Amino acid sequence: MQRVVAVTGGFGALGRTVGRVFAENGWEVALIDKAPAPENSSAEQLHASWWRGGVELIDLDSARSAISDLVEQLGKLDALVNIAGGFRWETLADGSLDTWDLMYQMNVRTAATASKAALDYIANSAEGGRIINIGAGAALKAGAGMGAYTASKSGVMRLTEALAEELKGSSVTVNAILPGIIDTPQNRKDMPDADFSRWVRAEEIASVILFLASGAASGVTGALIPVTGRT
Ligand SMILES: NC(=O)c1ccc[n+]([C@@H]2O[C@H](COP(=O)([O-])OP(=O)(O)OC[C@H]3O[C@@H](n4cnc5c(N)ncnc54)[C@H](OP(=O)(O)O)[C@@H]3O)[C@@H](O)[C@H]2O)c1
Repeated sequence: MQRVVAVTGGFGALGRTVGRVFAENGWEVALIDKAPAPENSSAEQLHASWWRGGVELIDLDSARSAISDLVEQLGKLDALVNIAGGFRWETLADGSLDTWDLMYQMNVRTAATASKAALDYIANSAEGGRIINIGAGAALKAGAGMGAYTASKSGVMRLTEALAEELKGSSVTVNAILPGIIDTPQNRKDMPDADFSRWVRAEEIASVILFLASGAASGVTGALIPVTGRT
C-alpha cells in the first residue's frame, strides 16, 4: 500500500518540489496551504492526490479539518512535512515588534498546530510515522535584521527536539532540515547579484526529507540537519 504524506506550504516553492519528489518515489501526496490552489490545477500538474488551499494553519480547527478530510479521502497518514512559513528582514531599531509575532505565528505555530492535528493519525502508521520540520541554517547564528525570523526558526528547532523526545515511546520520528538560501525564483529576484550556483536546490532538500521519511531513517529522531548547498 502506498504511503501517504501531507505537505504544508504545498503550493510554495519548496512545498511543490517536495510533493513532486515524494510522488515520483511512489508516495501518495496531499498538499495543504493558506495560498489558494493554483487555478485549473490537475492531479498530474500538482503531483498530488489531494490538495486544499485557504487553510490557515495557525488555527487548530482549520488544521484538524484539513487533515481529517485528507485522511478520510486517502485512508491514512504516514508523514507530515511542515513547510508552511515565511521570512522578513528587519532591524529591531527600524522594524515593528509585530514582525516578531508574525514570524512566530507563520513559522512555529503553523508547525506546532499541523503536528498536533496530525499526531493521532501519524502514530498509527504501520511503517512508523514521520514528522519533518523546516528550520533554517541562518538560525544557528543570527545576522543583523534576522532577529525575528531566526528566533522563530529556533522555535521550530526546539519544537522538533521536544516533540522527538515526547514521541520516543512510539514509532514516530521528528526531525528538521535547516536549509541555506534556496534557489527559488523569489530569491533570484531579491538577490540578483548572488552566485545562484552556490544555493541549495529545492530537489536537494526534498531528497533529504524523503530519506528522513523512509524506513531507512528509523533510527534518526530529534536531528537538526543543515542542507545548505555550497554557501
Ligand atoms: N526560501 C529560502 O531561501 C528558505 C531558506 C530557509 C528556510 N526556508 C523555509 O522553507 C519554507 C518554504 O520556503 P519557500 O521559499 O518555499 O516559501 P514560499 O514559496 O513562500 O511558500 C511558503 C508557503 O507557506 C504558506 N503559508 C504561510 N503561512 C501559512 C499559514 N499560516 N498557514 C498555511 N500556510 C501558510 C504560504 O502561503 P501564503 O503565500 O498565502 O502566505 C506559502 O504558500 C519556509 O518555512 C521558509 O521559512 C526558506
